[in-house]
Amino acid sequence: MYAPSVAGNSKIKGKITMDNIIKIFPLISLMISKLGIENKIVYSKSFCNKNKKLKDAIRLKKLFDFYGSDKSKLHDYHLIYSSIFKNSNKVKKILEIGIGTNDTLMLSNMGKFGKPGASLKAYRDYFKKSRIYGADIDKKILFKDKRILTKYVDQTDHQSIRKLFKSYGDRFDLIVDDGLHSHIANLNLFIHSLKFLKKGGCFVIEDISLKSKTIWLTISTILSFKHKCFLIKCKRSYVFFFTNRIWRDGRVV
Ligand SMILES: C[S@@+](CC[C@H](N)C(=O)[O-])C[C@H]1O[C@@H](n2cnc3c(N)ncnc32)[C@H](O)[C@@H]1O
Repeated sequence: MYAPSVAGNSKIKGKITMDNIIKIFPLISLMISKLGIENKIVYSKSFCNKNKKLKDAIRLKKLFDFYGSDKSKLHDYHLIYSSIFKNSNKVKKILEIGIGTNDTLMLSNMGKFGKPGASLKAYRDYFKKSRIYGADIDKKILFKDKRILTKYVDQTDHQSIRKLFKSYGDRFDLIVDDGLHSHIANLNLFIHSLKFLKKGGCFVIEDISLKSKTIWLTISTILSFKHKCFLIKCKRSYVFFFTNRIWRDGRVV
């Protein structure tokens, strides 16, 4: 797919193949901007420019910190989740991939002192009327708690994602990808999530590295021809945001 379709020296062909892989997205991104197609990046701080929103954000930050999630300590994701919904009490169903394993042999673990379920508990306390669903590849950390249910999933495996959605049934107001943090796993989940987003639901991918900006900028530019979709520049990463809802003044209405 990435190799030049020519005969010749295999070493040089190999080098050009590597170049193609590394440069394809930066070049597509450059082409998009040269053609004047808008690919907007918004800043996480712009989500909380009003007093009331800021108060909500601080309340959510306290919950993330209390339960031991890094969503506010390392990142500034509380600014986003506290403000994308007009009324947090109307949010009824949230799904997050990535419960937060403390098994340091697992990919994307939270370290040996990590607290599995931290973000799920914070969502439960913040979105007071919502059921919270979690899923993770590490079966050791699955748990049940008040308004929280968790199940197994491997987001690199289509079959596993389909099975998860089938078992949870129904549609979600918010689906968060805080799992493996690899593009293929992100896209697998996103593709299967579309059918399970409520009308007006939001889909978020966290922790997109600054280096991967052009991949996700390209994807959001394509999707934004039909949907509300953009990248959010956060404290130390990008967040991919998608909604099929009406979007006004920086929030879902
Ligand atoms: C960063 S942690 C989640 C932290 C948690 N959301 C929080 O804020 O407290 C990422 C989680 O993704 C899980 N994970 C890694 N690979 C996965 C995969 N292929 N499918 C599903 N989950 C995976 C890890 O086991 C880990 O628990």
